[in-house]
Amino acid sequence: MKASGTSILCEPIGGFQNLDDCEDAIASGKADLIGGARAFFVDPDYYQKAKEGRGEDVLPCVRCNKCHVPSLTGPWLSFCTVNPEIGIAHKLSKLTRPAGAPKKVAVVGGGPAGMRAALYAAERGHDVTLYEASDRLGGQLKLMDAPTFKWPLVNYREYLIAQLKKTGVKICLNTKATPEVLVPEHYDVLIAALGATPKLPPIPGAERAKTVFETFGREAEFGKKCVVIGGSESGTEAGIYLAENGHQVTVLTRQEGLALDATPIHYRETIQEFYAALPNFDFIPHAAATAVGDGWVEYRDAEGKLQRIACDSVVALGGMEAHQEEAMALYGCAGDFYMIGDCRTVGNIHTGTRDAYSVTHQF
Ligand SMILES: Cc1cc2nc3c(=O)[nH]c(=O)nc-3n(C[C@H](O)[C@H](O)[C@H](O)COP(=O)(O)OP(=O)(O)OC[C@H]3O[C@@H](n4cnc5c(N)ncnc54)[C@H](O)[C@@H]3O)c2cc1C
Ligand SMILES: Cc1cc2nc3c(=O)[nH]c(=O)nc-3n(C[C@H](O)[C@H](O)[C@H](O)COP(=O)(O)O)c2cc1C
Ligand code: SF4
Repeated sequence: MKASGTSILCEPIGGFQNLDDCEDAIASGKADLIGGARAFFVDPDYYQKAKEGRGEDVLPCVRCNKCHVPSLTGPWLSFCTVNPEIGIAHKLSKLTRPAGAPKKVAVVGGGPAGMRAALYAAERGHDVTLYEASDRLGGQLKLMDAPTFKWPLVNYREYLIAQLKKTGVKICLNTKATPEVLVPEHYDVLIAALGATPKLPPIPGAERAKTVFETFGREAEFGKKCVVIGGSESGTEAGIYLAENGHQVTVLTRQEGLALDATPIHYRETIQEFYAALPNFDFIPHAAATAVGDGWVEYRDAEGKLQRIACDSVVALGGMEAHQEEAMALYGCAGDFYMIGDCRTVGNIHTGTRDAYSVTHQF
């Protein structure tokens, strides 16, 4: 529109949040104004932060479009994956308490739920220590560096890490929190955010398959022809990832299509458009995997007949195992104990963020 020489103001909208990108669009003359919706939804202080040039403090929208969905099934109360106050603003005074006297708080687990809990607790004036067993913060979000299409989650992870550094939360990496580590510190509050790990499906030979944790970033360990057992959003993403990396991929799904659990508004279609453009990606609907063998996967097709598909490598999705027992082993290590995120019940960033918000607003 600008190139056509129009004299009216041009205001593009859609996906603008990064302040450097907005600045570039205006400074280069491509736009006169920038419009935005989700940027303000995620971070109500977006305008103020923009004015102050604090791009690094803008909470990133992860572009999941889940804010569009709840109105399909119930009263129009939206929610946001990363802003837990959306949808409950009208009852916050009943759900939360003003911050009490400063407490000594331990958060175990440096995934998105644990990091968010540590940030909230620190913002509320508590003395917070975050324990992470591995050498890096991020939990499952550490896997997101490898796929080209998970960059919004990388941005979110890096935002959390940067904010943690700013708040002065003590971070203990390479430290598995055990009662021996925690009890001598006399914490008032312990927040367990130990996460979850993937399970393989209960079919014969499943131990030959790899989990999604063993897929992202590890495509070199896969042979040319790959079968993915499970066509959920996660299975579809694993298939897309392998196809993007040159593998010949077939996804088996019991459903009639792929990623049917993905957000239906402008998100599932994006996934579908993505794999449709990959010539080396295919899927078989109504196919229930029954066994994995040496160089093959067996499945029951739509007519109930057993079929075999030859392959070099298999990824299998059998759900996630919450680290609930490991978390419960820490019960009694501090005055108060809370369990949040995937270790409480397997969920996603939204559920873990809501957990982090609600427990840290009780003390
Ligand atoms: C491939 C993939 C794609 C995904 N895509 C999305 C998506 O698009 N949107 C979405 O909302 N969700 C997505 N998820 C799910 C999301 O990543 C998880 O729900 C989320 O990471 C759970 O957060 P968490 O903090 O509860 O646990 P985790 O991320 O599992 O982190 C737990 C952390 O605790 C640490 N830990 C465990 N025990 C101890 C101990 N004793 N001491 C110290 N540290 C310990 C672990 O090392 C780990 O770092 C995806 C997951 C995967 C695997
Ligand atoms: C929760 C939510 C609901 C929306 N509902 C509609 C709608 O009903 N009709 C419509 O044309 N656009 C709708 N939009 C799109 C916005 O008007 C806007 O064009 C878009 O979100 C801009 O992209 P951005 O959010 O990345 O800035 C909605 C956006 C959000 C976040
Ligand atoms: S729900 Fe997802 S897409 Fe919507 S504003 Fe929040 S992070 Fe962004």
